Amino acid sequence: MAEDATFPPSDDFAAQAHVDRARYDEMYAASIDDPEAFWRKHGQRIDWIKPYSKVKDTSFEFGNVSIKWFEDGTLNVAANCIDRHVKDRGDQTAILWIPDEAGDEAQHISYQQLASHVGKFANVLKKMGVKKGDRVVIYMPMIPQAAYAMLACARIGAVHSVVFAGFSPDALGARVNGCDARVVITADGAPRGGRVTNLKDNVNKALLNDYNDVQCLVVKRTGQQVAWRDGLDHWLHEMEAEVDDVCPPEEMAAEDPLFVLYTSGSTGQPKGVVHTSGGYLVYASMTHEYTFDYKSGDVFWCTADVGWVTGHSYIVYGPLANGATTVMFEGVPTYPDAGRCWMEVERHKVAQFYTAPTAIRALMGKGDAFVEPYDLSSLKVLGTVGEPINPEAWNWYNTVVGKGRVPIVDTWWQTETGGHLLTPLPGATPTKPGSATLPFFGIRPVVLDAESGEVKTATEAEGVLCLADSWPGQMRTVYGDHSRFEATYFQQYKGYYFSGDGCRRDADGYYWITGRVDDVINVSGHRMGTAEVESALVAHEAVSEAAVVGYPHPVKGQGIYAYVTLMSGLDPSDELKKTLSDWVRNEIGPIAKPDLIQFAPGLPKTRSGKIMRRILRKVAENDHDNIGDTSTLAEPEVVDDLIAHRLNR
Ligand code: WT7
Repeated sequence: MAEDATFPPSDDFAAQAHVDRARYDEMYAASIDDPEAFWRKHGQRIDWIKPYSKVKDTSFEFGNVSIKWFEDGTLNVAANCIDRHVKDRGDQTAILWIPDEAGDEAQHISYQQLASHVGKFANVLKKMGVKKGDRVVIYMPMIPQAAYAMLACARIGAVHSVVFAGFSPDALGARVNGCDARVVITADGAPRGGRVTNLKDNVNKALLNDYNDVQCLVVKRTGQQVAWRDGLDHWLHEMEAEVDDVCPPEEMAAEDPLFVLYTSGSTGQPKGVVHTSGGYLVYASMTHEYTFDYKSGDVFWCTADVGWVTGHSYIVYGPLANGATTVMFEGVPTYPDAGRCWMEVERHKVAQFYTAPTAIRALMGKGDAFVEPYDLSSLKVLGTVGEPINPEAWNWYNTVVGKGRVPIVDTWWQTETGGHLLTPLPGATPTKPGSATLPFFGIRPVVLDAESGEVKTATEAEGVLCLADSWPGQMRTVYGDHSRFEATYFQQYKGYYFSGDGCRRDADGYYWITGRVDDVINVSGHRMGTAEVESALVAHEAVSEAAVVGYPHPVKGQGIYAYVTLMSGLDPSDELKKTLSDWVRNEIGPIAKPDLIQFAPGLPKTRSGKIMRRILRKVAENDHDNIGDTSTLAEPEVVDDLIAHRLNR
């Protein structure tokens, strides 16, 4: 397939879509010419308790960064996701829950039932002493109670911080500490792909020493034995028996925080990304509707986990704000076999299916025979997110899954952005495999020269991707550390939000993301800071020094390549490799486990002691012929040893 192959929307699709090409051009122009007027209108897509009079008050000026949308309006996010739908669609399924085992029956939770579940859950939290503004950590399997927990927090004005259930006790503890949470919500166990993770055990380990006053609310999912901390732990079902199901929604200011979500950066500990109530909900719901051409009655399936921002915006808040039927899937796409997703698409007549390129590659690798038996005619839009999609995977998604008739939306965004920034609209945008195409309404992407920071004005350009103006879904701050927020996103290129991604803009103005330009790697669509893996490695007694880089991986996109220098006197061995890899898994979680560990007697450093990652990247990519100048190294000979013992050949 030629790189410039384009796939225009069919006339039929465009004719029925919310937005066709002419309408996109018109709406986009309006959103840029007069953002105030544009968002004043579209802010009304959600229900406000007290309407806003102010729309936009934002500054990207370093030292003075401040982002406020719909500032004087008040609302309740849970009321928007539940109450306002009960009258017209109370019996419609809000959450369609698909359990891990293919033989277990799916559950349909109607909007009416959702109201009752969330009301009870909210009253339980109140009874435990949770108040407006308090932080609550949610560490849960993909079960409806995870969504109830989020919405219950939103209902009473508590700030949730969902921690992916694949994170280790240490990583969980750090996040409980990071936002000073008083309550952790979890389940006894999490079945996934036929295996069970002991979540409650992990919580106990996380809270054991330092957080002996943190209460824990436990959902019974598996019925397995759990260790109980008397006086601190409570079963949800027992607490629920003591409360009623009506809980009036708390009136929240638009800029009151809705949630914190930790994400890896290039340095130090993960950052607590803060999203607020009004702007976030407007943006999540609007992108959900337009990007997926969502229509009332559609069954929408995003395969992400609620532990990531994709699950927040496109399983819970966006779809529910729009009154959609949103699928929550507890399992994995390859269990019991690689036909699982397609079986469920057929069963539940899914209209929009949204997943990550890594999942597409994994399923493609299992063969078309897993797709062919199923009737996928309900599909209207296919989506991808998390990393650039390679043309082979795009082509397979298009032909084998979509049968060449379903538009694909490749959505570029970040935890920080709250919702899609670059994306095709399926009735409007001719797609090019591998390109996230064009900006969503109100988004002003710019390409800057990485070194000089100059804006590239020519249509064809390559450099770093920044945003010139704010949008309602933008993160507002780093939890407890506004100066880190400014330093990370607004210091390097003054006046712009810096995404951390490199990109190219082609002659048609289409954006092609080329990957991170900082020390963040993208493993299976998940962000991993190399510094985090390095600090886990050096915390092991055998390790004196470690450096971690990414390298191309056929399924994961990028794999984790670790160079490790051992303490003197210790000998490299396969056993030690395994020990170190398990160690990292335990310290952070399975997603951080190095794919390759190379023992290196020394690391390439400048005379001032700075590790030259450029060289380590080249060796890991098996591209050592293009290492470039090594003359500034303190000990150039270490490079020969690195090349001689390289692992990715
Ligand atoms: C980083 C953000 C937000 C959803 C999931 C990841 C990469 C995301 C794409 C895409 C190319 C993409 C970027 C971005 N990324 N979507 N469609 N094409 N790259 O969220 O963990 O905050 O990671 O994921 O590098 O900066 P995240």
